Amino acid sequence: MSKVIAMAGKGGVGKTTVSALVTRYFAKQQKGPLLAIDADPNSNLGETLGLEIEKTVGDIRENFMKDPQGVPSGMDKILYLEMLMNQVVIEQKEFDLLVMGRQEGQGCYCMVNNILNRFADELEKNYKFLLVDNEAGMEHLSRRTSGKVDILLMVTDYALRGLRAVGRINEMLDDLKLDIKHKGLIVNRAPKELSKAFLDEVERIGVPILCTLPNDDSLLEFDMDQRSLLDLPDDSLAVKAVDDMMEKVQEVIG
Ligand SMILES: Nc1ncnc2c1ncn2[C@@H]1O[C@H](COP(=O)(O)OP(=O)(O)O)[C@@H](O)[C@H]1O
Ligand SMILES: [Mg+2]
Repeated sequence: MSKVIAMAGKGGVGKTTVSALVTRYFAKQQKGPLLAIDADPNSNLGETLGLEIEKTVGDIRENFMKDPQGVPSGMDKILYLEMLMNQVVIEQKEFDLLVMGRQEGQGCYCMVNNILNRFADELEKNYKFLLVDNEAGMEHLSRRTSGKVDILLMVTDYALRGLRAVGRINEMLDDLKLDIKHKGLIVNRAPKELSKAFLDEVERIGVPILCTLPNDDSLLEFDMDQRSLLDLPDDSLAVKAVDDMMEKVQEVIG
């Protein structure tokens, strides 16, 4: 069964950036095969990886619901949806990307969702690792057939308020009925030394710090130049921090 690495944290703290750097790690170290799943309706993981997204799972679902009779004549509905889903998977040499896109509107989506979920389950079997870049509410994770997450990487900025948001997510996890094997905290834009107040709050929340990520101007430069984070140099501060973290993660999840 593939190992699932998932991101959590409020908006803007760096989940997508870390997801891109984790993808870079798997690509460069050839540790895959990896399926990266962009589960944020405001999808931008593809962008940070320099990929153009034409269609999402959400688009397929909406189009099908708008015109359920649009299935080519003589073709089975299930096969048709599966064919469309196959077109959504963006295949790269070192990893693949699946963009979930917007969530469903109103109406009965059960049938189409069942087919799409079954396809996703089958698809996932082809990969050693899944990486899920979530939105803050983690809707996608709670919908997955198996609620298994091998490690949940909880990202916070270096601020007590951000950290408390992680604390609230941590408390909410029990209600989501997920099977989370391990959790780790990523402190983004962290100074060299963390303050006592911050560390005390980490202790209270009870999720161990796995990685501190310094502010790295090259991330901003790449963003402005619309360059893929896969092309960051090996010695960039953020790359080094995430590579080190991933060595630890691999030890933890096996
Ligand atoms: N360590 C960092 N140093 C510099 N800029 C960063 C760092 N982490 C994230 N950023 C920038 O902050 C912005 C928000 O990050 P993002 O990863 O999109 O957050 P999220 O996915 O949690 O909403 C992006 O423009 C990103 O380039
Ligand atoms: Mg994001």
